[in-house]
Amino acid sequence: MTTLAPRHLERLLEAARAVRRRAHAPYSRFLVGAAVLDEQDRVHAGCNVENAAYPMGTCAETNAVAAMVAAGGKRVTAVVVVGDGEGLVTPCGGCRQRLREFAALDALVVVADRERVRAQFTVGELLPQSFGPENLKT
Ligand code: THU
Repeated sequence: MTTLAPRHLERLLEAARAVRRRAHAPYSRFLVGAAVLDEQDRVHAGCNVENAAYPMGTCAETNAVAAMVAAGGKRVTAVVVVGDGEGLVTPCGGCRQRLREFAALDALVVVADRERVRAQFTVGELLPQSFGPENLKT
């Protein structure tokens, strides 16, 4: 498993919690923040952004990945997702695939809320037997 230094975990948690407060989620009222660490140890954050055409909203993880790509980041080395509720706020299926594009299968996905870390998984655990960029190298 790729290691995540405590100082990087703290940076990711802080960024994800801060951006979560800026989520635009007037329809679900479910605020999510995410932060990804790139190969240069830079942090990129994203929140969910909903709109009146409900299916067109985007998840926090997707927007964090987009921010990384826009900043020139190439790889996701760790992810933190922050959301409320009894259930763990793990990335949705689409976001798992988007993370798969940029992350190693052993990269960590840390699930947290406003107070604490609740669980952690690898990308491979969240998306077993997945299809990824390597499949296209025929
Ligand atoms: N959402 C995320 O942004 N990330 C997740 O991991 C789970 C769900 C968003 C999508 C939608 O805006 C709201 O949370 C309710 O599903």
